[in-house]
Amino acid sequence: MILEVAPGNPLIGTTSVPGDKSISHRVALLAGLSSGDCRIENFLVAGVTKVMLCALSELGIEWKLVGKTLTIKGAGLQRTSEDTDIVQLDCGNSGTTMRLLAGFVAALGLPAVLDGSARLRERPMKRILTPLQRMGVEIQASPGGGAPLSISVRPPERKLRALQYTLPVASAQVKSCILLAALAAEGETILTEPGLSRDHTERLLRSLGATINSQVIVSSEDASVQVETHFTPPDPLELEPFNLLLPGDFSSAAFLIVAAVITPGSEVKINNVGLNPTRTGLLDVLRSMGADIAITNRNDSGGEPLGDLHVRYSKLRGTTVSGAIVVRMIDEFPIFAVAATHANGRTVVEDATELRHKESDRIHDLCVELQRLGADLVESVDGFVINGGKMLVGGRVGTHRDHRLAMALLVAGMGASGPVEIEQAEIITESFPQFVHILRNMGAVINEK
Ligand code: S3P
Repeated sequence: MILEVAPGNPLIGTTSVPGDKSISHRVALLAGLSSGDCRIENFLVAGVTKVMLCALSELGIEWKLVGKTLTIKGAGLQRTSEDTDIVQLDCGNSGTTMRLLAGFVAALGLPAVLDGSARLRERPMKRILTPLQRMGVEIQASPGGGAPLSISVRPPERKLRALQYTLPVASAQVKSCILLAALAAEGETILTEPGLSRDHTERLLRSLGATINSQVIVSSEDASVQVETHFTPPDPLELEPFNLLLPGDFSSAAFLIVAAVITPGSEVKINNVGLNPTRTGLLDVLRSMGADIAITNRNDSGGEPLGDLHVRYSKLRGTTVSGAIVVRMIDEFPIFAVAATHANGRTVVEDATELRHKESDRIHDLCVELQRLGADLVESVDGFVINGGKMLVGGRVGTHRDHRLAMALLVAGMGASGPVEIEQAEIITESFPQFVHILRNMGAVINEK
């Protein structure tokens, strides 16, 4: 599908965004491991969570989705069956599904093969293989080190080993994979992370009564951040069933925030957005660049902070993004780059090599596509430099099958001097199926060609 966006139409109105993607993945898994019926409201209904739910079905976990309300019959953590049939799990194009499911399957001790799209097969999996193998999980990758991943059956009487491990990169997917597997380990698992990645798994486990504590250590020399997490699985090994209302996804709201900030005349309110500080780096950076964003109605749901965002068109100045804040806005760089093209002066992004390992190479592919729209930018090994303040031009761009690149390019079109056409725009449904509808309701002109 090709979408054509007409430039210059202000966004005005109040909206909300779908449930948080990261939390949706985690609650589905933890509900599946719980000892009874769980009910999750405002669950994200999108491509990535559908593959996760289908995988749960393959693993024999029953669930039902009515609108955005998911009910799951938890099957517990104790495996009684001697089931040795290998389960095939299709993770689609979703790294979170593959990495978190690997930890989940390892905790259950079931034999499985986890596979996915051509791009998912290229993404790094050694980062989960090494810690899982040290815990005693028999897991193999393809000769290239990626998917498909094969996990062998583990006899129910053999527990996994608790782990003391330093993650080579700050990654919530790796941390969560290990924490899920650690539910089946004997003793305390201690993880050290070179940065503060999203902590939804920790918050959920804590709210379910598990003993889990994290300490953030900031270096006085270079302000680098280290996080140490201690986790001991519950004894007896049982997770209580739970009911939860999920906050809106900040990473989805980010596209609407930037669309309003760069389009003259815009004034938008986004209700009930998750404001977990491990996710809101983009807010801090945009505000430091001069963006007019206010937060009201601060609240809490299931241990996650949320609030309403009020965003207005603003004039931006260039900035530098590097170091500890990068991981707090790791999913926001495609849309941040669009904001930076509207900022006066230079914007520099550094320390962001991880972007090369996402749904697309979010340094190279992003730079190539923005250059097609006339952006003045230079790719670097670990980021990019944008000379902003020059209006983008119309043109045709590709999404590289990356939902966030697609949405960022669509927003770029709202602030260009001519129409922008986005190829393969259907990929947006991976995480935010209502995106185009919401934009149109607030005044954007977007046509399907
Ligand atoms: C996610 C963690 C991040 C993020 C991804 C979702 C999660 O990946 O990019 O979209 O839900 O844990 P990494 O942990 O690999 O940085």
